[in-house]
Amino acid sequence: MKRLKIYVLGIMFLSLLMFGLSGCGNGEVKETAGADLKAIPEGELDPAVWGKTYPDQYASYLKNNEGGQTQFGGSEKVSKYLTQPLLPELFKGYGFAKEYNEDRGHTYALQDIREIKRITPKSTGSCMTCKTPSAPGLIKEMGLKYYSTPFSEISKQVKHSIACADCHDPKTMELKVTRPAFIQAMQRRGVDVSKASRQDMRSYVCGQCHVEYYFKKDTKEVAFPWDKGFSPDEIESYYRQVTPGFQDWEHPDSKAPMLKAQHPEFETWQSGTHGSAGVACADCHMPYEKVGKNKISSHQWTSPLKTLERSCGACHRNGSDWLKARVTFIQTKTFDLLLKAETASNAAHKAVAKAIATPGADPNLVKQAQDLVVRGQWQWDFVAAENSTGFHNPELALETLGKSIDLSRQAELLATQAIVKK
Ligand code: HEC
Ligand code: HEC
Ligand code: HEC
Ligand code: HEC
Repeated sequence: MKRLKIYVLGIMFLSLLMFGLSGCGNGEVKETAGADLKAIPEGELDPAVWGKTYPDQYASYLKNNEGGQTQFGGSEKVSKYLTQPLLPELFKGYGFAKEYNEDRGHTYALQDIREIKRITPKSTGSCMTCKTPSAPGLIKEMGLKYYSTPFSEISKQVKHSIACADCHDPKTMELKVTRPAFIQAMQRRGVDVSKASRQDMRSYVCGQCHVEYYFKKDTKEVAFPWDKGFSPDEIESYYRQVTPGFQDWEHPDSKAPMLKAQHPEFETWQSGTHGSAGVACADCHMPYEKVGKNKISSHQWTSPLKTLERSCGACHRNGSDWLKARVTFIQTKTFDLLLKAETASNAAHKAVAKAIATPGADPNLVKQAQDLVVRGQWQWDFVAAENSTGFHNPELALETLGKSIDLSRQAELLATQAIVKK
């Protein structure tokens, strides 16, 4: 641990030296030159208007429309079913069995939420919360009612996909967290987001959306389950203890009360090598780029595999080929185990279904098996729904998948015993 710390400090010191000399340290990015930048009007949501004052960042932002697909990520609409054919089985009875796609560029978020088959007449404003810069204003205006208002009504009042106002204060251009759920959940953990350091903000602005969340039962308010911690186990125990009886849906085969995980990037990254060393989301996903004489932070949020030299090169000196090979190595190991966890979870649902259909099967054992099905699939989903295929935290990903397989196989065993005992 000590050696690591010294190493990390060394790297930071070296980077400071290097960046210091070339005048482009983390934070010393000189924004678009020009003495009097036109201030952005308060409440302005249109990125094109912000772009008149900050044309370089806007040009970079527009690149989010570009396609391109790396091995496990990219900006084209791609169904997850292609590489994970068991998904419709695992999510049977739930929206994610109808349509489930890989994530793509921020500029598509609004179109994608409007088109996805998971949106039904029962969907509410909550689903719009992380797709558009209109959401924070509507929440302020409507209060808690925003969250329970039908999706179709909220959708009519919304024009722009994720944009500048989601992360920046228009007056000062400082980074700003705009989603109440993040501010409140961090407050309950004793962190005052309004006093966060600049380096923390370079992750917090992402953490307001790239997280596990749930809707509160009565109000449908978006909330983050972090009171006990950020690990899959701690979040599961939050659901058990703080929201007892909470379930996302019931699986029609095993009749188990299932939990669905949602893109826990922020949670996963925290305890990984990079998160714990203070490397922010923006360090890798918004590397500095040169535009004419200016240096800007890239505003194309995509796979860092497209920018390895700039995203990682400041800290890693082994070259892009090595970096790419390491990322691929981690992702391949993770994905292989992920598929095994899916097979195990699927087998567990089927075994429990068989036990339920067998007259005289021990109801106690069936109940225990159902409980294990939920826990096994939750652990798998925590890794499956996370978008880095293990890279943000390889150790946690593999540990979590290992637990998943163990729990699911235990479920299968108990379900089988429930029949045998009879
Ligand atoms: C050390 C660098 C690094 C840090 C820090 C980091 N990421 Fe990543 N991230 C990656 C790499 C590498 C990938 C894998 C890209 C791929 O598969 O093409 C990735 C993948 C992703 C993806 C999926 C991208 C895709 O193409 O589908 C998302 C979303 C993401 N990261 C969000 C975040 C968020 C949010 C944070 C902070 C909480 C974060 N990342 C921190 C390097 C990083
Ligand atoms: C998802 C969050 C996010 C969105 C959306 C976003 N930015 Fe940024 N922006 C950042 C981060 C992070 C930085 C780096 C700030 C820092 O290091 O202090 C940044 C930096 C900047 C800077 C300072 C100079 C630089 O390049 O580092 C400007 C100007 C800027 N953004 C303009 C814009 C404009 C214009 C838009 C909309 C077209 C926009 N941003 C959208 C997160 C965002
Ligand atoms: C307002 C909510 C919001 C914020 C803030 C936000 N994201 Fe996203 N992000 C999304 C959504 C939603 C998607 C998926 C859009 C889709 O698939 O239609 C996404 C997609 C992505 C992708 C996948 C792009 C690809 O090429 O596959 C990356 C990478 C990413 N975000 C990184 C970040 C980083 C880094 C930050 C912080 C600087 C950030 N995001 C801030 C909501 C957000
Ligand atoms: C701000 C500095 C910094 C940046 C940027 C950075 N890293 Fe790292 N990385 C570290 C540190 C510190 C460690 C831990 C000490 C070590 O092993 O070098 C580390 C460890 C690693 C490891 C080995 C540990 C593990 O988790 O598997 C890999 C692989 C890695 N980084 C890949 C990347 C890639 C790929 C990128 C860019 C997408 C990147 N890093 C960006 C600082 C950084």
